[in-house]
Amino acid sequence: MDSGWQFAFGHACDQHKDFDYATLLFSFAKAGRGDGPASPSFDDRTWRTLDLPHDWAVELPFDVKGDGNHGSKAIGRYFPENSVGWYRKTFTIPKEDAGRRIAIDFDGVYRDSVVWLNGFYLGTERSGYSSFHYDLTDYLNYGGTNVLVVRVDATIGEGWFYEGAGIYRHVWLTKTEPLHVAHDGTFVTSTVKDPGAAHPEAAVTALVTVENDGDKDARFTLEEEIENADGKIVASSPGVAASIAVASGSDLSVVLPVLDAQLWSLETPYLYKLITTIRSEGKVLDRYETTFGIRTIAFDPHHGFFLNGKHVEIKGTDEHQDHAGVGVAVPDTLNAFRVARLKEMGSNAIRTSHNPPTPELLDACDRMGMLVLDENRMMGTTPEDHDHLKRLIVRDRNHPSVILWSLGNEEWALEWTDFGERVTRDMTAYAKRLDPTRRSTVALSGSGAGISLAADVLGFNYYRQHNIDKVHETFPDRPSVATEESSSEHTRGVYADDLPHQHLVAYDFEADGKHASVEEGWRYHRARPFSAGLFYWTGFDYRGETTPFDWPAISSQFGMLDTCGFFKDNAYLLQSWWTEKPMVHLLPHWNWPGKEGQPIDVRVYSNADAVELFLNGKSLGRKSMPRNSHLEWKVAYESGRLEARGYSAGGAEVASDTVSTTLAAAALQLIPNETRIAADGASVSVITVRVNDAQGRMVPDAGNLVSFDLSGPGRIIGVGNGDPASHEADKYVESVSTVPVAEWRTHGTDPKASGPEAEPGFDDSAWEKARDPRWDEVRIDPPASVFRGTFYLPDGAERAAIKLVLRSVGDTQSIYVNGHALAENLKVDPVGYEYTLDPSLLHAGRNVVTLSVTRFSAANKKMQAFTWDGSGPAAVQVVMPAPQWKRSVFNGLAQVIVQSKREAGEIRLTATSPGLSPAVVNIASH
Ligand code: GAL
Repeated sequence: MDSGWQFAFGHACDQHKDFDYATLLFSFAKAGRGDGPASPSFDDRTWRTLDLPHDWAVELPFDVKGDGNHGSKAIGRYFPENSVGWYRKTFTIPKEDAGRRIAIDFDGVYRDSVVWLNGFYLGTERSGYSSFHYDLTDYLNYGGTNVLVVRVDATIGEGWFYEGAGIYRHVWLTKTEPLHVAHDGTFVTSTVKDPGAAHPEAAVTALVTVENDGDKDARFTLEEEIENADGKIVASSPGVAASIAVASGSDLSVVLPVLDAQLWSLETPYLYKLITTIRSEGKVLDRYETTFGIRTIAFDPHHGFFLNGKHVEIKGTDEHQDHAGVGVAVPDTLNAFRVARLKEMGSNAIRTSHNPPTPELLDACDRMGMLVLDENRMMGTTPEDHDHLKRLIVRDRNHPSVILWSLGNEEWALEWTDFGERVTRDMTAYAKRLDPTRRSTVALSGSGAGISLAADVLGFNYYRQHNIDKVHETFPDRPSVATEESSSEHTRGVYADDLPHQHLVAYDFEADGKHASVEEGWRYHRARPFSAGLFYWTGFDYRGETTPFDWPAISSQFGMLDTCGFFKDNAYLLQSWWTEKPMVHLLPHWNWPGKEGQPIDVRVYSNADAVELFLNGKSLGRKSMPRNSHLEWKVAYESGRLEARGYSAGGAEVASDTVSTTLAAAALQLIPNETRIAADGASVSVITVRVNDAQGRMVPDAGNLVSFDLSGPGRIIGVGNGDPASHEADKYVESVSTVPVAEWRTHGTDPKASGPEAEPGFDDSAWEKARDPRWDEVRIDPPASVFRGTFYLPDGAERAAIKLVLRSVGDTQSIYVNGHALAENLKVDPVGYEYTLDPSLLHAGRNVVTLSVTRFSAANKKMQAFTWDGSGPAAVQVVMPAPQWKRSVFNGLAQVIVQSKREAGEIRLTATSPGLSPAVVNIASH
């Protein structure tokens, strides 16, 4: 259900500007009486058409009045006109679906969403992160059109980081028979006899909830099969016969042995599929697939974390769902790109701080072999709190990547208090009830009392905020993990603080006394074998939380990678400790004109045994490479070539890195992460834009402005460069606005009358004001009437595409704009009419629409009271074309994200910049 939504801004505090929503007496009083856009008859043809996922906040400009924690976008309390978005989707349901159960699933909407179907209120979801669903069955038109409407209010924030706005995750429509597997209705667990064996034996338990939403009791058989990654059935159960009363659910449990199980691990993330079949009277009623993995996990209070009986040190990062160019609306393949970047750094775990992730991120982690600490939004024990925790756990508990639940983060009112102990005890027990196979933690900024007394696994945010050794001594039976570490701030490619530009040096320094450097953090936790490992704050930079700066900074700088996923030097530092493949990384760059002879702080990050540094071919000495640390040289600057060579213990060169003084910027280069993508309208290629010198070397301080043009079946969905203070746009979208046709006046007349009334200058002041049909039924009493309405076009409208949409207001209608006839004697059309207006007919400022109408006949009586729903009988759509896509490179790099359309072919992206030779890249969409 991701494609073809209509979108428009409403208003957070002016109901009239919010399309007069909820202003009719019965809108929330009687079923099926949703008004304004919630009414199925509302005319949304002038709204913008878009596909999900969509984050409207990322399209807005930066503004000093915006909330810096949330990325300083023009949204929130000072921008009520930008804070409410309406989405409407019209879809058909075939007649044959009558009798089936049909539900809609939202992976996540930010936030405070109210959903309506065909004018019926379905519900409100305040959370911007929890997935939710509604059963649509009883409110659908079978064999006809249906209108699903979502009002989203992002005025208030839930977090202290960029959160976006809108339907930023997928929406799914599910159809089942009345007898079916419940929503998220399977729970697959396994025990493995000897996980270390070459061919371990596993017992897989499938707990399945079946629901009978039919109108009679039912008998059925439940069959379970397990399919391996090659599509071969490796285990199956004989059908279990069961019966289920009408309007009830039933839990059934089946155990399937899997001999010779392939365990899910980081190296081989092997996935199985459980296929659940419900059969009744010889017919298959439901077939439900559950992806799962067979693996064992354990947190040990003295030895850390074990996967399949093997010790695994958690080398994790904390992540928010936010990426350059797209904000929180991260396509699935971009999520996979992000996981791949983290893996490249050597990371093996993600903490989904501080909220339930999009389920597709977990799919990627399952597939790619990444552990997940899956986090709840906020702690509490009310029914609402339990409901959110339940939805998270029940949704995610089949993912093998998920190894631990996080119940909350730095809950200051709870960490030290009795409340904290009670709330944590309750939540921990509740989580255990929903998922006995996993433990839970709470990320703490202070430990020893309150939450610590009840948390199952202790989560430490920043070792310097705790006395971890003492806590470990006090709670010797309690495993622990560092849920956050370091929080130091660095800007990619910057080697001296540049405070006016909010740029911070990229050497691994600590940020302040509270936050250790990356290296210190790693060494601290490594030295404590009882610790399961750590999660660095953060993997990727994210918008908002601009510490230590305020405006004009707009992004955090805690990341090992910037918002695009370009490695900062710290990512290589981690890579040198976390990966085996020989690597050497050398910093800084070697463009320091004017610093000749001055000492430059040179560092090398490597996993080799020794490293030798050469300046212009001259050795500056070989040093043995300390593990879990780095090497430093002070090098007197001389332009040219600085090279670091890594050697094995035996003296063989295993890797090297070079930085060279470059020539001036000369050429653009485009480097896609994928040259072939699926023509599914969703897949992306993430394209690096580089500015090189004439010898193909990246110019490390280049900031050239680059323009992009795309041809073929694709679209650019975002651009970025990782500069934490850049106010350049992430997106260039066409602007679509609705200009109401208003100030209607009417006059009863002879059916054939027309002519002077259609002229813009005609004086209609003696005519009756057209009543507002939302409250007063509009009747055309004489056999015919003339209506005159006015619309005002903004300056610059001559560059816009302008469309007039109208609805039938009588049996026949003639339509004039500024005296020019668009159509005469049109018959009733329930959908309405649409005209692209020739700019030569229009003026900036006042324009007049005249309708000459004959009264509805008895046959069309139903249309008589033309309900304006706030959308009126006519409206004008003004579409200003999207500006040229462009972005400056930042320290030599920028990123363009290109998405396929649902059409195969060759996508061609061209990058140009004055004075540089252009670059072209082709992406095959297939
Ligand atoms: C932590 C918090 C994170 C982030 C970080 C920045 O206290 O849990 O969400 O704000 O500080 O240093």
